[in-house]
Amino acid sequence: MNPTQRDPMRILIDEQAIQRRVRELGQEIRATYGDEPVTAIGVLKGSFMFMADLVRAIDGEVRCDFLGVSSYQGGTRSTGVVRITQDLKHPIEGQHCLVIEDIIDTGLTIEYLLKMLEVRQPRSLRVAALLDKPSNRETKVTADFVGFTIPDEFVVGYGLDLGELYRNLPHIAVYTP
Ligand code: PRP
Repeated sequence: MNPTQRDPMRILIDEQAIQRRVRELGQEIRATYGDEPVTAIGVLKGSFMFMADLVRAIDGEVRCDFLGVSSYQGGTRSTGVVRITQDLKHPIEGQHCLVIEDIIDTGLTIEYLLKMLEVRQPRSLRVAALLDKPSNRETKVTADFVGFTIPDEFVVGYGLDLGELYRNLPHIAVYTP
């Protein structure tokens, strides 16, 4: 692509800042659970990059499983309709579960997922979100571990997409059409 034809992007959180914060989160998370094993549940697709870095920053025993979810369905606004595209591969009963999200925006997705997982009787259920956009919240849900609180702008990169593009960026950028 010709550089002059690129979509207008502004870096909001650079790669170094993300990596530094993810390491801190890993330590906070380990301190919270002590020596207990943690079941990390990545919410696909957006969390894949955050999950990969975060689980490497958590010492000790960590299981990894994934939930496939689609709520934005290609647009830039949440539709409020959460669709499960892939369930967990293993039971979580009696386990310390940490749901890993790239972003909490309206909160509709995470609220739905927490209700769905709660009935499976985990020992504990917490949420780690790289990004929190509280200004857009339509629910009371909060994350236990938050990387960065961001303003009400549409962001891409580090797992977050626009029309499936830009997930590969190592930083978070604001997309302004
Ligand atoms: C995004 C993101 C969260 C959800 C947050 O997923 O990964 O799961 O939206 O939005 P909310 O708080 O307003 O519900 P998306 O549906 O875009 O799918 P993706 O992760 O595959 O990109």
